[in-house]
Amino acid sequence: MEPTLIDKPRALNYYCANASEINSKLKYAKIIGTGSSVPKTVLSNSDLEKMVDTSDEWITSRTGIKERRIADENTAASDVAYKAAEKALKVACVSPQNLDAIIVGTVTPDFVFPSTACVLQSLLGAKKAYAFDLMAGCSGFLYTLHVAEGIIKSGGAEKILVIGVDILSKITDFEDRSTCILFGDGAGAAVLTASDKPGILSSILSSDGDDWDLLYVPAGGSRTPIGEEVLKSRDQYIKMKGNDVFKVAVKSMESATINALNKANVSPEDIDLFVPHQANYRILEAVRKRLNFPEEKVFANLDKYGNTSAASVPLALDEAVNKGRIKEGNLVLFAAFGAGFTWGASVVKL
Ligand code: COA
Repeated sequence: MEPTLIDKPRALNYYCANASEINSKLKYAKIIGTGSSVPKTVLSNSDLEKMVDTSDEWITSRTGIKERRIADENTAASDVAYKAAEKALKVACVSPQNLDAIIVGTVTPDFVFPSTACVLQSLLGAKKAYAFDLMAGCSGFLYTLHVAEGIIKSGGAEKILVIGVDILSKITDFEDRSTCILFGDGAGAAVLTASDKPGILSSILSSDGDDWDLLYVPAGGSRTPIGEEVLKSRDQYIKMKGNDVFKVAVKSMESATINALNKANVSPEDIDLFVPHQANYRILEAVRKRLNFPEEKVFANLDKYGNTSAASVPLALDEAVNKGRIKEGNLVLFAAFGAGFTWGASVVKL
């Protein structure tokens, strides 16, 4: 079994020496540290074979997923986010007390309110930071990046912790074979700072609310609070029209990546690594082929973690950094698609 990402050596620690020199430069928002964390418990395809009418062969061939991590009953989003944040802050040489803001992208907050970002702020002791959550489904991390970049460029903060975290197992129906095979739990974090060195070069975000009901959780909000009827209909869990989602995901991620490349004025050949949202290997392959990326330039870890929603891109980013697939000065392309629908892409110099 692969070890969790915890305790693996970091590679993005070369900014430590520069930390004081970049304080007053506000031209770019730059990622100076990444971290990630996943729960220890592995749920394999063969485990799922015992729970629903499915097979390892079906799941592997339709999705590329072999296993995923599942949080225990006492673990919430802030617990996993905290571990990812701690690592990212350590790599960035930024103490929690020096954070100006914390933004958490999630659809599985600890509570309806307060925000998971506020709970995390307390766990970290980040007294100076303002903290808020942002909901954009599986695009959550790209939305947090974009918002953090805007805040930094406007002078509203110098150092921001952004997190993508989801504990989807808590809203997954383990009697529904069409969804329970896809999702997993995890968190990924990045520390952003104002810098005179190029960082986020472009970012494109889009939404189309007309299709909100193709991927959603019907109950638990103000429209349908949880009650006996909800529990009977299992409407507290994710409902998805997988086929429809698949088609829109491919088209949207393709258009967002092209727009992000154009906005950054770079071509696909300039990109060192494409780190897409890890939803389904067939989606990744379809997008890769449409963009004409060679296979070795696409990072995939969904075989180990499944679709971890807002955590997927930063979890993949951190793993790519740790594996030496991304080095200082590399150009990385992110793309994501999720419930809403929401989607986006970013070109980032690391
Ligand atoms: N095991 C075995 N059979 C399954 C199954 C499972 N886990 N889930 C569905 N099936 C069956 C269906 O019942 C259907 O059977 P039928 O033909 O007898 O009706 C058949 O497999 C095909 O179902 P379909 O939904 O058309 O499969 P698909 O090729 O579209 O794959 C998904 C399903 C969910 C893997 C795929 O649509 C997908 O990945 N969609 C995108 C989901 C996503 O990424 N969501 C998050 C966005 S961020």
